[in-house]
Amino acid sequence: ATITEIKAKGKLLVGTEPTFPPFEYVDENNNIVGFDIDIAQRIADKLGVKLEIVNLPFDSLIPALMQNKIDLIIAGMTITEKRAKVVDFSVPYFNANQSIVVREGEKFRPVKLEDLKGRKVAVQLGTTGDIVVSEISEIKVVRFQKFTDAFLELQNKRVDAVVLDEAVARAYVKKFPKFVVSAVIDTGEKYGIAVKKGNSELLNFVNNVISEMFKSPYDLLVEKWFEK
Ligand code: ARG
Repeated sequence: ATITEIKAKGKLLVGTEPTFPPFEYVDENNNIVGFDIDIAQRIADKLGVKLEIVNLPFDSLIPALMQNKIDLIIAGMTITEKRAKVVDFSVPYFNANQSIVVREGEKFRPVKLEDLKGRKVAVQLGTTGDIVVSEISEIKVVRFQKFTDAFLELQNKRVDAVVLDEAVARAYVKKFPKFVVSAVIDTGEKYGIAVKKGNSELLNFVNNVISEMFKSPYDLLVEKWFEK
């Protein structure tokens, strides 16, 4: 939607998949909260409209955006070449890597992806974690729509590891000390907010909100006293 259309309907529809703490997750009051949700709220506030979060499976987010069912995707989504062919990404707002999570107190402590050969590994369908483990044919990949289900499988010993973004792995391990981060895989990913391909008006707006969030009080002082 154009900014005019978003203002006319009075709400910004943001798609996300909320089993990804601390970026987006369901809290004890059943609200979807997190780092990304605060960014989404900021964008909605700046547009002067209400924020409506649309909860979708991760692999349905891009199709939903392409079909105009949502205005933005904010989902800890890594900017990849393949995705950038079908949606437009904002400037990066977070750096990420993959990681391997296993059960605490067991011998199996993989330090690299190759150590997962011959093992069952849970991932979220369509994520960059799914992509990196699927490249190694000897790994038995089990794909879930929700990370909460992937961790349930790990707990129940039906898989040997979960591969997912490091910051999110740390959040799960902190909450469930029965799991441990066994390795970090340096994938050098960057998260971006996605808009419909060609929607440069909304993209510029989003980029301005992100850049503004990056500014320190010092930058703001320089801007105030020296620029323009
Ligand atoms: N960064 C990874 C990717 O883009 C995982 C994102 C998963 N996000 C989520 N909200 N479940 O593929």
